Amino acid sequence: MGFSFTFLTILLAAVGFTNSQQVFMEYIERRLAVLEDRIALWHEQSSRYSTELRDFKNKVVSLMESVEKEREQLRAELENTNIRVDRVEREMDYLETQNPAPPCVEMEEKLVDHKVTIVKEKKKEKYEKLTECTDMIASIKSMKILKRIGSSTGMWARDPLGDSDNIYVLEGTGNDTVYEYSRARDFTQSPVMRARRIKVPYPWLGTGHVVYGGFLYYVTRKNEYQIIKFDLKNKTVVDSAVFPAEQQIPVYSLSPFNYIDIVADEEGLWAIYATNENEKNICLAKLDPKTLDIEQMWDTPCPRENAESAFVICGAVYVVYNTKLPSRSRVQCVFDVRDAVSNEEAPLVYFPKRYASHSSMKYNPKEKQIYAWDDGYQLIYRLVMKKKDL
Ligand SMILES: *[C@@H]1O[C@H](CO)[C@@H](O)[C@H](O)[C@H]1NC(C)=O
Ligand SMILES: *[C@@H]1O[C@H](CO)[C@@H](O)[C@H](O)[C@H]1NC(C)=O
Repeated sequence: MGFSFTFLTILLAAVGFTNSQQVFMEYIERRLAVLEDRIALWHEQSSRYSTELRDFKNKVVSLMESVEKEREQLRAELENTNIRVDRVEREMDYLETQNPAPPCVEMEEKLVDHKVTIVKEKKKEKYEKLTECTDMIASIKSMKILKRIGSSTGMWARDPLGDSDNIYVLEGTGNDTVYEYSRARDFTQSPVMRARRIKVPYPWLGTGHVVYGGFLYYVTRKNEYQIIKFDLKNKTVVDSAVFPAEQQIPVYSLSPFNYIDIVADEEGLWAIYATNENEKNICLAKLDPKTLDIEQMWDTPCPRENAESAFVICGAVYVVYNTKLPSRSRVQCVFDVRDAVSNEEAPLVYFPKRYASHSSMKYNPKEKQIYAWDDGYQLIYRLVMKKKDL
């Protein structure tokens, strides 16, 4: 620029400018020079600012990254702590049951909150009831932790028809050795090693077994799903039957090891299952304990999704739901084969505390209580019943 103005000055001088004009031109030149300097300064400053801005941006980005990392770490730690708190809570409950409070201060948890409507289902034929039983679950009276065997899955039960107090334990979802204890006290006090062992001929599958009238009815798989009837006294297989459903799928989405769940109630034996044909919902079948024949089958309106277990009381199936990250288990769908509770409303029953998920829940119709296996712990839920409105 300096060059072009000097050139201009010479040019102007050459065409004969007066002295005052010369002075004016010099003045303009000086002003322009000052402006030039300022522009150069701005230029320098703005490039410095942009460098600084870039540095600042980089710093912020890396800061954000480290904050995000810390947040992740905190979250992981929090989850860990939650799990540990749950464990401690459970240990405490267990210890409490080892040193029970005197009965007068025993608190009962009444857990009826809202209501769920029983969904009716069209039936082809009417179910012929065998008993006068009209009970339905009203609430959970209490929960007792009896033992901690440790395996996260399993099933334990006492025979509702048997003449002994024997307790049977089937640990895990695929073994062939049943533990037998003579009394509840032996069960709670002695370690597993001291139990009598009964070996069954084929390993079981899942936790959907039942002890009924001196027999163990258990599920196995040899090409197809089978129900084995095993005499617990003389330790022999009395009968076995292929389950007459095709393309079976897990009954409960949260307990995917169960393809058939055999349960007992006042009416006898039932099988809860699911097939590809009706993949959204749980099916129910009445099972003849003598012959293992299926007497009748129903499609229930209860979804498999988020179900973890189920039990039957007086011919009504109660499906227990949970969430993938275990929260409180609750009965959220009821299906009564007799329609006896069609105009009734069944309570939405919550199970106490925030344990993990139930891998089995076995209702004992004689004792009106549920034998449950909750992540290594063996619990009993005592139930409050009410009469169905007939
Ligand atoms: C059954 O469980 C025991 C103890 O956990 C184990 O040693 C054994 O191998 C299991 N048997 C089968 C058939 O899985
Ligand atoms: C075992 O008892 C059943 C009846 O429950 C009987 O049919 C069977 O013959 C008995 N088996 C042996 C080996 O005693």
